[in-house]
Amino acid sequence: MRIRSEEMKDHQAVYQLNVEAFGHREDEAQLVERIRASQGFIPELSLVAEMNHQIVGHILLSKANVVDEDKEHEVIALAPIAVKPDFQKQGVGAQLILEGIRKTRELGYGAIFLIGHPSYYPKFGFVPARTFGFELKQFQVPDEVFMVCEIIEGYLKDWSGELRYPDSFFS
Ligand SMILES: CC(C)(COP(=O)(O)OP(=O)(O)OC[C@H]1O[C@@H](n2cnc3c(N)ncnc32)[C@H](O)[C@@H]1OP(=O)(O)O)[C@@H](O)C(=O)NCCC(=O)NCCS
Repeated sequence: MRIRSEEMKDHQAVYQLNVEAFGHREDEAQLVERIRASQGFIPELSLVAEMNHQIVGHILLSKANVVDEDKEHEVIALAPIAVKPDFQKQGVGAQLILEGIRKTRELGYGAIFLIGHPSYYPKFGFVPARTFGFELKQFQVPDEVFMVCEIIEGYLKDWSGELRYPDSFFS
């Protein structure tokens, strides 16, 4: 299996993959399209997992902001991640997340936020974001599903604030 940045020729396969992985609904596939067309899109951080010339997984990491009184910090939001149903539970998702973290760090970003399953993400270093003092007002979610991963050591020290997803996250 190879993990690489998405190319234009992959867009259709990435759309279908997201539809399939999310139980045949199009919300996440359309979210990918909106983020891709937005200023928050970082081409290197739209990654696909390819096996025998087939796209079996996709992860998208894009820009978001934390508003801390009069300051804004640029951070990364992970959403969505999808693995083709027949290829789930074989480590594809884990490899996409690890490569996503590695590339995000390489680009100089210090933290990744997400809303996700509390039993899946902690093994990659994600912890409940509210324990760091971060707030989320745009989505009403339980504390344990709003998570953050500090990918540059010490990056989250001495500041906090409200995570704001950009307009592209809302249709
Ligand atoms: C969430 C999702 C991306 C995970 O992808 P995945 O490739 O299945 O993830 P992994 O294989 O890395 O891990 C899934 C489970 O399989 C297990 N696993 C990993 N490799 C395995 C292997 N070789 N054999 C058996 N099990 C394995 C993992 O331990 C993990 O179990 P755990 O969560 O109990 O620890 C995928 O299930 C998916 O697309 N779901 C639908 C869309 C979705 O809900 N996305 C997340 C919200 S944005």
